Amino acid sequence: MARFALVIGLTLLYSLLTSAQLVPNFTPISEETFAEAMDQDRHPFEATSGLVFQNTETSSNEQTLLDKLPRDKSLSIFLDVVMQVPTLVHMFNNATLDPAVTVFTPTNGAFKAFFDTETMTEHGKESGRRILASDADMHEFLAYHVVPSGKLTFQDLAKASTLETMAKKTIDVKHSGKKAMLNGKVAVSEDSKVIEAKNGIAYKVDRVLTSLNDID
Ligand SMILES: *[C@@H]1O[C@H](CO)[C@@H](O)[C@H](O)[C@H]1NC(C)=O
Repeated sequence: MARFALVIGLTLLYSLLTSAQLVPNFTPISEETFAEAMDQDRHPFEATSGLVFQNTETSSNEQTLLDKLPRDKSLSIFLDVVMQVPTLVHMFNNATLDPAVTVFTPTNGAFKAFFDTETMTEHGKESGRRILASDADMHEFLAYHVVPSGKLTFQDLAKASTLETMAKKTIDVKHSGKKAMLNGKVAVSEDSKVIEAKNGIAYKVDRVLTSLNDID
């Protein structure tokens, strides 16, 4: 009987201990800090996490692109690529960036399609994964999605015929109904999801932009 009680006792103690391990360390935490912790969990940010999440106390209109973009789960691949390119990390994290930037941020779906599809490039048939092979290629790829001439509104885009990118190559803009078509294939409309931060504005797009030199 005593032995039985001991077993019950140990079992109870064991379950108490194991359930105690499942109880998170509870400290009051702001919703923002929580959102950022979640984001940190989701992205392989280890190397730069101090840099990325240093501005946890800034108010929403003081936040940078690097504060705001990680909140959108559908931009996690874009962010993962950005984190590989320090110049872009510093730019997106710079609250006093002048001029601010306009960024076309491809969604995860856009990246998956780009990575999985082989196209003819100057080096022959390759999938979009080629950009991950070198820092220079990732930089070039991202820089082509950044227009360093302030926060362009949709009306600005609707008036433009070309956009000069940070990659020193232009994006061609055509207009079709209420849409601006970038390089004839990436649509931006008044309804496009926009993320505005202190140092820039990001338009979510559902295809990646490749420069017109790429046959595609
Ligand atoms: C942020 O941008 C401003 C203006 O573009 C520049 O003068 C400053 O050096 C940048 N700060 C950092 C930390 O790069």
